[in-house]
Amino acid sequence: MDPRNIAPVEHRITLCDRERRNAHLGGVLWLTGLSGAGKSTLAFALEERLFRDGVQVYVLDGDNVRYGLNADLGFSRKDRGENIRRAGEVAALFAYAGFLCIAAFISPYRADRAAARDAAPGRFHEVYVRADLATCEQRDPKGLYRKARAGEIANFTAVDDVYEPPEKPSLVIDTTKSDVECCVTQLVDYVTTSFRLEGGPV
Ligand code: ADX
Repeated sequence: MDPRNIAPVEHRITLCDRERRNAHLGGVLWLTGLSGAGKSTLAFALEERLFRDGVQVYVLDGDNVRYGLNADLGFSRKDRGENIRRAGEVAALFAYAGFLCIAAFISPYRADRAAARDAAPGRFHEVYVRADLATCEQRDPKGLYRKARAGEIANFTAVDDVYEPPEKPSLVIDTTKSDVECCVTQLVDYVTTSFRLEGGPV
């Protein structure tokens, strides 16, 4: 693709117009953490709660996106990078459409998360959903840690692949210390502050 042959086109409806209608800011709430840390559980519980409260909200979940848009990708370093690049671009599109997009991806590499942040500058909030490996392995909701330990899955995050924790996340949710309800309350509190439109409620 030759970038000299394409040119951006302006929307007539601005993000500001959309935000005024929604009565909250658009942006990306990016949940990162180990498999089994609780990202999807929290993402969908938060979505339900915010939707009931009138927020334009949508979850992009790693497993789901890998069935469609990213069905051609595996778990090599390169494929994970492309997985997060595409997810970051889609999350940014949701943000510019005025949505609060909750993105739940392991996203183990800092550089990939930084690229996702760059896709939605000023509107990207990194949340570290923290649980230690031993706890995640004990939970093993999909039986994948057992398979990884048995050598049936390669490049499994934190077993035989790396996870680089965020250095300065906007929020840390420790799912080993609080139950789901309490974690969702912490997330709702964060959203209420950070997605508030000046002069209007979330
Ligand atoms: S990411 O690392 O590229 O961000 P993503 O969040 O999209 O991962 O997908 C993770 C999901 O894929 C896990 O919840 C798990 O169900 C599944 N999975 C399959 N193979 C692996 C693997 N090698 N490492 C981690 N998760 C895997």
